[in-house]
Amino acid sequence: MGHGKLKKFAENETFRCLLQPDASAVLDKEAGSRELRLRDHAIKGKWGREMFGNDHPIVLELGCGKGDYTLALARRHPEINYIGVDIKGARLWKGAKEATETEMPNVAFLRTRIEFIEAFFSPGEIAEIWLTFSDPQLRGSENARLSSPLFLERYRKFLRPGGIVHLKTDSRYLYEYTRSVVAVNGLQVLASGTDIYHEGLTAVPGLETDIVFQVQTFYEQMFLEMGLPITYLAFTLDHEGPYAFPGEAFDHEKWLEAEGPRRSFSHQPTKKG
Ligand SMILES: C[S@@+](CC[C@H](N)C(=O)[O-])C[C@H]1O[C@@H](n2cnc3c(N)ncnc32)[C@H](O)[C@@H]1O
Repeated sequence: MGHGKLKKFAENETFRCLLQPDASAVLDKEAGSRELRLRDHAIKGKWGREMFGNDHPIVLELGCGKGDYTLALARRHPEINYIGVDIKGARLWKGAKEATETEMPNVAFLRTRIEFIEAFFSPGEIAEIWLTFSDPQLRGSENARLSSPLFLERYRKFLRPGGIVHLKTDSRYLYEYTRSVVAVNGLQVLASGTDIYHEGLTAVPGLETDIVFQVQTFYEQMFLEMGLPITYLAFTLDHEGPYAFPGEAFDHEKWLEAEGPRRSFSHQPTKKG
């Protein structure tokens, strides 16, 4: 590991706003079994009191990287608390350092795999979720996509009724996949657009959408330089019973094709994040 990364990891230990639990803090191995079971983390249900010292609403940015949305939203809404979640410590360092140096009381970061997210939040603890430029996971398991029914099921456990999920992505594939999940489950679409900077978006009255145009994340800037259209979808999770998978309602081949040359290589752009 490079010296720069080691330095960031050491500095991460000093940030009060950054929680970095070991996987073992939320995973139990059942005796005599190879299965791992998720266990609640001590902060579950206590973010307001223990991290922020208030009971303001809490918004998550999942796969936040350097936390661009977390920081921008937190500056705009001091009356709301924001938590950026990612597994990469060197990226979280950037957001946590800025939040620490500028003394932002309403920002925190959590280093964990999003697969474990329900171990950290209790029912109703979260008001909204942002998915910003999530890896589209074009091949392999559908369950790896952060907007798959499997992940929505996890989010529903702690998102307030009526809570919004925002998806901002350069991947038309991920956008269309998510629209299919939303459609087959009859979820309410609050806003959508497939090329927001050129065509704008349609939204229900009263939804705050200017922030969608005003913040460009680290990855978004690279995708914009590549000339890729940026899509946005906002929806609620309210639904009785288990979420259905879109199956044939989603045209995998068509949207894989639409992904262009990127479909044959990793989603990661060339610049290092
Ligand atoms: C393409 S980057 C986007 C980062 C940032 N949102 C941006 O727009 O600049 C995707 C981010 O999601 C994180 N990520 C992807 N899958 C994850 C998972 N299962 N658990 C935690 N983080 C994940 C990666 O570490 C990476 O930082």
